Amino acid sequence: MVKVAVLGASGGIGQPLSLLLKQNHSVTSLALYDIVNTPGVAADLSHINTPAVVTGYLPANNGLEQAVTGAHVIVIPAGLPRKPGMTRDDLFKKNADIVRGLATAIAQFAPQAFILIISNPVNSTVPIVAEVLKQRGVFDPKRLFGVTTLDIVRASTFTAQISGAFSSDVTVPVIGGHSGVTIIPLLSKITPKYEFNHDQIVALTKRIQFGGDEVVKAKDGAGSATLSMAHAGARFANAILDATVKGVDGIVTPAYVYLGAFNGANELKATVGGLDYFSSNVELGPNGINKIQKLELSAYEQELLQAAIPELQKSIAKGVTFVEEAS
Ligand code: NAI
Repeated sequence: MVKVAVLGASGGIGQPLSLLLKQNHSVTSLALYDIVNTPGVAADLSHINTPAVVTGYLPANNGLEQAVTGAHVIVIPAGLPRKPGMTRDDLFKKNADIVRGLATAIAQFAPQAFILIISNPVNSTVPIVAEVLKQRGVFDPKRLFGVTTLDIVRASTFTAQISGAFSSDVTVPVIGGHSGVTIIPLLSKITPKYEFNHDQIVALTKRIQFGGDEVVKAKDGAGSATLSMAHAGARFANAILDATVKGVDGIVTPAYVYLGAFNGANELKATVGGLDYFSSNVELGPNGINKIQKLELSAYEQELLQAAIPELQKSIAKGVTFVEEAS
């Protein structure tokens, strides 16, 4: 039995993400939780002839408790998206409260779950969840992930437009965090190998860092990336399911994680200014993160890292302080 819960399942990301997760045949139960509309979304998805039994929950009747209890994976796209002119940090006030509430229920009813955070600002919401779990003595750094996969997806697409490769064959590690200058694409590590000139590297880096703004602007007030994010979220959730349910070896993908209690964490921490949270390539195993890989940066990427560190420090501290002050 493999249960996946989506919290924020009726939203712009939540609905297509739930659709994609319904197509994963490893999933036997798909629990959809939101403060609105989940009965309808669940009824609709439940007619698809794949194994997952779909159930919708609202806050009434302990809906959140029921949705998360027994979940193997919990994906969280709950919270407000950006409008034009907003940074991800502008979402902090509202989304910090939402994420803290959801994390409190997970700590109580599903402390063993793999938790995948999509809600922005990811650089702060992941520390919020970790702090809530720590306070309740159930934090396992190997099981908590900030989903930065959309940056990796964008990096493949944008670089392929220049290099002429098939975008689905291209891999670019993206490290750091998930906001503006904290997004650090490692174009020196692109596979298949391609030598961009310096101007291309600068332009591509900027486009990957601020790719989300292209969507926010084009949607003109109607929200931020939802469909591409659903693709990215499902890709990451499927990787977690492959590693932890099917026992697939050798899955490596960037994720924004707490640097503690797995191989490589201390070494990486020492190279990123002592940050407690950072996104880098993680090697997945049956219990979540086996190892986090060390960085090999070009001189330009090293400059990007130096610009990212103070931003990340601020965002992490903001999340930690929020939980301390709320308790
Ligand atoms: P949306 O507004 O369409 O959907 C959010 C959903 O969350 C709504 O259905 C709402 O009812 C629900 N919700 C609100 N409070 C809740 C609570 N307490 N419990 C459960 N559900 C609750 O927003 P959208 O576009 O789906 O974005 C969701 C979040 O994902 C935003 O914070 C956005 O910034 C973030 N995002 C993250 C990305 C990433 O790469 N990690 C990329 C794109 C968006």
